[in-house]
Amino acid sequence: MIGEESRTLWERAQAAIAGGVNSPARSFRPMGGDAPLFIRSAAGGRFIDADGRSYIEFLAAFGPNVIGHGHPKVLKALAAQLGEGLLFGAPCRGEVELAERLCAAIPEMEQVRLVSSGTEAVMSAIRLARAATGRRVVVKFDGNYHGHTDTVLVRTGSGAATAGGGHDSEGVPDGVRQDVRSLPFNDLGALEELVRREGDDLAAVLIEPISGNMGVVVPQPGYLEGVSRLARSCGALVIDDEIIVGFRLRYGIIGPTLGLSPDIVCLGKAIGGGLALGAYGARRDLMRRIAPLGPMFQAGTLAGNPLSVAAALASLDVLAAPGVYETLEAQGSRLAAGVLTAGLRHGQRVSLQRVGSMFTLFFRPSPPRDYHEAQAHDGAAFRAFFWEMLRRGVYLAPSPYEAWFVTLGHTGEEILAAIAAAEESFAALDAQAHEA
Ligand SMILES: Cc1ncc(COP(=O)(O)O)c(C=O)c1O
Repeated sequence: MIGEESRTLWERAQAAIAGGVNSPARSFRPMGGDAPLFIRSAAGGRFIDADGRSYIEFLAAFGPNVIGHGHPKVLKALAAQLGEGLLFGAPCRGEVELAERLCAAIPEMEQVRLVSSGTEAVMSAIRLARAATGRRVVVKFDGNYHGHTDTVLVRTGSGAATAGGGHDSEGVPDGVRQDVRSLPFNDLGALEELVRREGDDLAAVLIEPISGNMGVVVPQPGYLEGVSRLARSCGALVIDDEIIVGFRLRYGIIGPTLGLSPDIVCLGKAIGGGLALGAYGARRDLMRRIAPLGPMFQAGTLAGNPLSVAAALASLDVLAAPGVYETLEAQGSRLAAGVLTAGLRHGQRVSLQRVGSMFTLFFRPSPPRDYHEAQAHDGAAFRAFFWEMLRRGVYLAPSPYEAWFVTLGHTGEEILAAIAAAEESFAALDAQAHEA
């Protein structure tokens, strides 16, 4: 299944790259694999691996790919920009257009700063919240992932949960940890209690409104309203991390439609159209604190670079077209229903949580409400399913804590083919269980 070329590249990668991968979640080690697949190219909803084998893929680069690989509009915009120059270190028109488009789509964001990754967006948002409140403590939620700065590497989800480093990374000073509180998601009582004890020290409550990094976990009714109310009650700012869900679930952000009232919004993944781009934004009075107008420093050599901005504008054009989110919803719903039905038909103890074009198939009887519940799953069954799907040409994220992402690049036939592969994979699991 892992071809010769992938294996050869893996030998070289292990010698030259830490752990063989440039981001831990790409490793197949948590799946018990001795090598990952190396990808040569991608088009539409498919990967071609280094050995020339084709896969329907629902990794979507861990979220950024919403419109499908190699969308002609993005390629055309990039080609045009290539002829104009790659990096200026001086302002350019595209940055202004992108900032205007983002602010127009998100009323909570009167101004924005473009950065180069989601990690940078959250790091800067936290600094802004601390600057604005003059307080230290940041509240986050167990199993949420907000990038890899020190502050947020406390009880994190995503790659940190599966692929080493653990939930709590080494190398984070105790002094930093002392200023972070990580609480169970969906537990308003825990936040209420914290606000009662430490409300005066809280700078920010940082949240993924729909969690995508402990599997897809949705907020209980009233939860996000409660989070906003409690943050307000003690003067902490709400940081809405929409790096996965922003512009994937609707054109703009989803938090406010679910009851969250953000002060600072973080974006990444989908807005970059596959290039390196993140953003954070807020009301004008908050954004005025950032240098060169204000005393809070934040910068970036590659921030708002012309290529990323060109890809972003083209990608937002595609996402703004009528019917896009309806198509994503329909494709997501069809795939999710097919996969879940297949699992249940073959007697698997699986459940599924979906929002639009993203879902997680949990190897547990009901979808989790928090990280503690998400950890109680059948890891061996997930691993077996992962390999059965890969064998049948369907590439899933190598972790039970990630989502399946459907894109505009997936055809109806590919969705059906993936459901058929799931049917066969579950049947294989069922047969193995009977043999055992
Ligand atoms: C919700 C969320 N926030 C922040 C990040 C960090 O983004 P990046 O990997 O671009 O630094 C991620 C990445 O997975 C994420 O899912």
